[in-house]
Amino acid sequence: MGETAKLIVGGKEYELPVFVGTEGERAIEISKLRDVAGLITLDPALMSSGSCKSAITFIDGEKGILRYRGIPIEEFAVGEPNFIEAAYLLIFGELPNDSKYDDFSGRLTNNALLHEAMRHHFEGFPIDAPPMAILSATLNTLSCFHIEFLKGLDDPEVFVEAAARLISKVRTIAAFTYRRSRGLPFMYPDPKLRYCANFLHMMFSAPYKQYEVKQVLEDALNLLLILHADHEQNCSTSTVRLVGSSRANVFASCAAAVGALWGPLHGGANVEVLEMLDRIRAGGLTPAQCVEKAKDKKDPFKLYGFGHRVYKNFDPRAKILKEACDKVLLALGRRDPLLDIARGLEELALKDSYFIERKLYPNVDFYSGILLRAMGIPTSMFTVMFAIGRLPGWIAQWKEQHDDPSSKIWRPRQIYVGRTLTHYVPMHERE
Ligand code: ACO
Repeated sequence: MGETAKLIVGGKEYELPVFVGTEGERAIEISKLRDVAGLITLDPALMSSGSCKSAITFIDGEKGILRYRGIPIEEFAVGEPNFIEAAYLLIFGELPNDSKYDDFSGRLTNNALLHEAMRHHFEGFPIDAPPMAILSATLNTLSCFHIEFLKGLDDPEVFVEAAARLISKVRTIAAFTYRRSRGLPFMYPDPKLRYCANFLHMMFSAPYKQYEVKQVLEDALNLLLILHADHEQNCSTSTVRLVGSSRANVFASCAAAVGALWGPLHGGANVEVLEMLDRIRAGGLTPAQCVEKAKDKKDPFKLYGFGHRVYKNFDPRAKILKEACDKVLLALGRRDPLLDIARGLEELALKDSYFIERKLYPNVDFYSGILLRAMGIPTSMFTVMFAIGRLPGWIAQWKEQHDDPSSKIWRPRQIYVGRTLTHYVPMHERE
């Protein structure tokens, strides 16, 4: 028998198994605790609770390590980054060989168009509708057009096609959302272009003028999407698993995750960062005031793009993005004053005892907005870009749970703290 943990409550002793992961992480298994001891654990916000065993992504937050299927994130950033390769790896567990890559990439090309009836959905939204609301609604709507995928995802052939449809169409949906918000005509996908170049084309081409995709921007977009592709059991991914645990389909599960990602404490932080940097540039706030506001417990303001539930060290993605910002701006021959402000703010916060004591470092959202700006992506679309990147991770996590015969519907317990037995009082007797 492996290691066990002893729990003593009310003079009674219970022995609980300790599960050890492949990287040596240890967890006390408590799923039988209520049966044997009549006790549950209480962990609001799940600070010390593992919700599943997973073989997809490994993070060591103390050391600042992030690996997809064992491969360090830094290794995806060299040469020509390829988001589709990383997506395939996350979902299917291995890097694709030539033929598997061509097959998957072909499926993406063949699925890039939306059903014509979907166009009308975009027109039904107000012009200033939040893009994340459109994305969530439209991902769910997709399932209506692919009803054959709502059942039968156990068949690997059906699953790969469903995954390809989702990954391919999410970028078309995102681009159409942007075009609609600007009153611009929708640009159809171009089958000659690769995934990221095609997205930039659908965003920025005009019917009379093809947008010329610069290699440096195509590479930067691939990199950015890779860095967002999975991050184990974060808020939106846990949403996928929670919804998926009821055996809801992959479209509905991912649509729900978009809602979770939207929040400013999660994916929505990239918008808040840009707005904060913009305010500093406009003179509405100095970097020092920003840091002071973030430290003031009476002020709801946070230093957005700083801090992480798991990383108590540099977020490795933030390091890569910071370098990528420099590289892209240099290649474009541009300076972005917001990058200088971000650097200064980072330096100030990293020297401040409040941030040092709490181990608050820049996270992925701190520099991603600057890179997106360099690509011409408007702030309103930042969180949508995060969602495009995170989609393969959501699909991979949905699949892992779906393929696990031992998986059950999630149903956390609670500790009731409301009134004890109270009787109904008819209206005329109430005070
Ligand atoms: N600014 C100021 N104080 C902060 C910040 C911040 N950005 N982040 C954490 N703190 C403080 C907390 O107030 C808390 O202080 P206390 O101990 O005095 O009460 C302490 O640091 C510990 O933080 P927690 O709130 O326990 O951290 P938690 O794990 O709950 O939250 C989170 C993590 C939500 C990311 C938080 O750091 C935050 O709000 N950051 C800003 C928003 C952001 O950038 N979100 C993106 C995260 S990355 C992603 O989702 C892709």
